[in-house]
Amino acid sequence: MFSVETILKSVTSLPTLPVALTRLTELARDDQAEPADFVRVIRHDAAVAANLLRVANSALFHVANPVTSIEQAVNLLGTRRVVELATGASFGRIIPKVLPGYDMTAEGYWTHCAAVAILGEQLASSLGNAAPDAVFTCGLLHDIGKLVLGTFLMQVSGEIQRQLHGATSFLEAERLALGTDHAEVGVAVAARWQLPPPVVCAIRSHHAPSTAESDQTVVDLVHVADGLAHALGFGADRGGLARTMDSKAMARLGLRVHQLEEAAALSLDSIHGMAEWFSQSDGGKP
Ligand SMILES: [Fe+2]
Ligand SMILES: [Fe+2]
Repeated sequence: MFSVETILKSVTSLPTLPVALTRLTELARDDQAEPADFVRVIRHDAAVAANLLRVANSALFHVANPVTSIEQAVNLLGTRRVVELATGASFGRIIPKVLPGYDMTAEGYWTHCAAVAILGEQLASSLGNAAPDAVFTCGLLHDIGKLVLGTFLMQVSGEIQRQLHGATSFLEAERLALGTDHAEVGVAVAARWQLPPPVVCAIRSHHAPSTAESDQTVVDLVHVADGLAHALGFGADRGGLARTMDSKAMARLGLRVHQLEEAAALSLDSIHGMAEWFSQSDGGKP
């Protein structure tokens, strides 16, 4: 058995997120920010710039003429989509090839996170929520703790299997076997990366949305999108079938089942597109 302290300390083994990404998410929250501000930040990070151009020119966006400059990419895609792509590109680079302990490939993990991001954003838009881009980032990063916890889980896999027989969820099995879970470890990662408060909150409470200390709507949206992603078959890791969707989160959002179905239908192409982009790009390949 590892101490929780040892596990939390190991968070430092994860690579840091590029500085550009932190600055872009700050700009995204600034109403006064101009497209030129985004261009300036992206130009200073060659990897983010290269990823942005590659994605802007991919089949995902159906552009008629090649996009050759960052200005063009920002004008064409809009600042919101640019921040989303930069987030995805930066995050994709730090995902290992396999996630030990979770029986998931990098692609499976990425597809799950992308699905939660896209579904959450779609639900936010359909509800007229003011910050769908924040929901996208929260969705993409909600399971970040798994990147750290997986290594420890692998070493107690017998214990986890035993716990899974009696436990109601994989999260509970993590807690019983290791004394912590991927939500708590994810908060430690978020602190190391200095991620903004809504992201920290969504990571901490995505399995128990009613415990959110702030940003309730964002947390509820990520929780519902997570459940929907599992229901649609995007990221059914071990214990995935034991997951339940909190009816209080649905009630707080005023969501009906038919709206979930609509969001799913509108998101499927984008989810498949992001999964395809990941498998074709350098994302996740160390
Ligand atoms: Fe989770
Ligand atoms: Fe998840």
